[in-house]
Amino acid sequence: MSLSHSLSLEVVLVQARLEAQGIVSYELRAPGNEALPAFTAGAHIDLYLPDGMTRSYSLANDPGERQRYVIAVQLAEQGRGGSAWLHSTSRIGERLRISLPRNDFELVQDPGLAVFICGGIGITPALSMIHLRVRQGLPWRLLYAVRSHERCAFVEELLDLEQRQGLGQVQFFRSDDDERLDMQRVITTTPADAHLYCCGPQRMINEFIAATSSRPPTLVHYERFAAASEAATGGGFEVVLQRSGTRISVEAGKSILDALLENGVDVQYACSNGVCGTCRTGVLEGVPDHRDDYLTDDEKRGNTAVMVCCSGALSPRLVLDL
Ligand code: FES
Repeated sequence: MSLSHSLSLEVVLVQARLEAQGIVSYELRAPGNEALPAFTAGAHIDLYLPDGMTRSYSLANDPGERQRYVIAVQLAEQGRGGSAWLHSTSRIGERLRISLPRNDFELVQDPGLAVFICGGIGITPALSMIHLRVRQGLPWRLLYAVRSHERCAFVEELLDLEQRQGLGQVQFFRSDDDERLDMQRVITTTPADAHLYCCGPQRMINEFIAATSSRPPTLVHYERFAAASEAATGGGFEVVLQRSGTRISVEAGKSILDALLENGVDVQYACSNGVCGTCRTGVLEGVPDHRDDYLTDDEKRGNTAVMVCCSGALSPRLVLDL
């Protein structure tokens, strides 16, 4: 059993709710409805699915709630099957294993304005943060960009939160209706001391980073769905599994993770995009072509670890600690 699974807990899927086109929220509770481990706003869990799949999902509910975790899952058109399994195969009453909550996207406790800029399913961590801001009576603003009205999730809940204290403001941007979010304008019209949070697709994060480059880094927070660099799928190298001596050729069009899974190697992964850290694997020999946003620059220069979901090799051979 892997370390991540030994720290897992069992939950029951008690409710599934269509929140928007292609987006379903799932409510998870402990089998006896006892209190779940506490979480902080912006936290996520890993969900261990059948066939060894692991997927990371942000918790969307109020972090003050101890009886349930709520996640929301968007059906991915070309995903590895985690969202498809949840949308079409999972059943109410089913028992699932999840990790303990972890947080890489903390909400800073600050009485000043918090501005949340979200795209698509990126609304989920912000929703949890907004719940906390409302409960604490602190000011917030949400700018929520979606493709269309039908793809806008949690609308009623957001509008209800906006009403509750009179300290929040929700603004929707629907690109199908020509309502594009102008990131530069949003940032320049936001008070200089506001904390800025962004969660959404790659392009939105890139625009956010560019628009906030002159702000103090302590006020700028974002969570990516995918690493900034393209995954290395050029192939043409070999990985060697140190413990068994198995040699696996990584062909063009495949990631190291693809090649490992196709050869029956049990590797943990979640985001498949180089951001969560789940697939970190030790490197004993060779030079990885690092494409992730998880390892630090020093770790990348050290070449002692590789994120196999997205990185490749600059040497003809990588010996992995597997
Ligand atoms: S699976 Fe998330 S970084 Fe590789």
